[in-house]
This record gives sequence, structure tokens and C-alpha cells, in this order.
Amino acid sequence: MAYFALVPAAGSGARMGGGMPKQYLPLAGRPLIFHALAALAAMVAIDKVFVVLAPDDTEWQRHDWSELGARLEVLRCGGDTRAASVTQGLRAMRRDVAPEDWVLVHDAARACLTVDHVAKLISEAGVDPVGGILAMPLADTLKQASESGDGVARIATTVPRDRLWQAQTPQMFRHGMLLDALEFAPAVTDEASAIEALGLKPRLVAADVTNFKVTYPIDLQLAEVIFASRAATAAANLQEVS
Ligand code: C5P
Repeated sequence: MAYFALVPAAGSGARMGGGMPKQYLPLAGRPLIFHALAALAAMVAIDKVFVVLAPDDTEWQRHDWSELGARLEVLRCGGDTRAASVTQGLRAMRRDVAPEDWVLVHDAARACLTVDHVAKLISEAGVDPVGGILAMPLADTLKQASESGDGVARIATTVPRDRLWQAQTPQMFRHGMLLDALEFAPAVTDEASAIEALGLKPRLVAADVTNFKVTYPIDLQLAEVIFASRAATAAANLQEVS
């Protein structure tokens, strides 16, 4: 049984604003997507990292990806939604991947993913018959807004937060099961929802807040701070060793 990664990167990143798709915005001196690909490519357990691009993507070839090694493969088969991009990617992967192999689907926009996050998911979800996802128990109180005619957001109700988790990625399932699930439930916003639609219960693997999705401009600043802090820690450790 083998592990593969699939990174859908065919979105436009409309909530980020600006003309450039968010996966290519500069972060710590690299295009944003480079960081998640680097964390996945650094895992020896992962045989190959597939990236799904929009068929008309012209930005990818402007950058140098050679540092990520030969296990990176580009699939130009992105669709109109994230689920469509993942489904098309899974179909294209069938050349290399067996139905029982594990696929870790990861958002290009979760740039601060670390090898430790991935290793934890593989060790905990990899022993589960269904698979699982990285997630975080919800700390905040949740409010649902009413539909307001005056353009002002108002609280309609408070949603009890007991047992609520925020779903992150990677989400790890067997290739055959995930493709079947997405073909059965194509209108989902993550892979786990499709698996749930089959009546199965994916495992929740506790991650942390650093694995957030870069969505708004402020998130990019936050990610810069995280990378700067990691670089400072790495430099301090190196000095200690030498
Ligand atoms: O837009 P959002 O941040 O939810 O997108 C999550 C991930 O799905 C991103 O990596 C984005 O590029 C990808 N995506 C895709 N195809 C789409 C829409 C989003 O691959 N049509």
C-alpha cells in the first residue's frame, strides 16, 4: 500500500482580491503553493505529489519547481469547483495509483503545513478503516447570522459548539473509496463530506492553528510571521549545533 498527495490548485482565490490567483502570491520569497508542496514532497512515505491546475493556467511555468524533485507531477485538469478539481485529479492519477492506496488531498492555500502535521495524519488515519482528516476542536462560540435587509449582520442564533471541529487538510482516504464518494456526492466542499455521504465516519486527527487556510490578505501577513519565526528557530538551532 502506498501514499500519494493531491493538491488542488485550480481556484481563482476571489476572496483574496487582486488579479493573481492566490496560490502564486509571494510568501516567504516563494509562490504560496510552493510551501505546501515542499512539506508533502519532503515526506519519504509519499511516493508522488500531484498538483491539479486550471487547464488555462499560465503562471505555473513562470516559476522554478526543480527544488521539489522529480516526484512532483502536474495535472492540467482543474474544474469549476474544488470538488471537481479533486475528482478530475483522482481520475488522472489512476495510471499510478491503485484503489487501495492512500491519497492525501491538501489545499494549496494551507501554506504553513509541516512534515509533523503530515506524519501525525498518516500515523493516526493510516490505521483507520475509513481514513481521516486534520482538524481542530472549535474554541470560539459560533453565531449564525440572520438574513438582514439593511446590510448589517445580526445574530439569529448561537450554535452550540460541543463536539464541533474545524476541518483542515490534508484529508486522507483510499483512492477508490474517495473517487466513488465524490462521484456519488459531487456538491461537497471537502473530501470528508463525500465520505460521510456514503454513511462512513472519517477520523478526526487533532492539528493546530498554524495549518490555517490563506484566504484573506491579512492571512498572508500571518503566514509571513509564521515562516519568519520558523526560520529564526531553525537558525538558532543550527547555531547551537555548530
Ligand atoms: O477557494 P478555497 O480556498 O476554498 O480553495 C481551496 C483549494 O481548492 C485551493 O487550493 C484552490 O486552488 C482549490 N480549488 C481548485 N479548483 C477550484 C476551486 C478551488 O482546485 N475550482
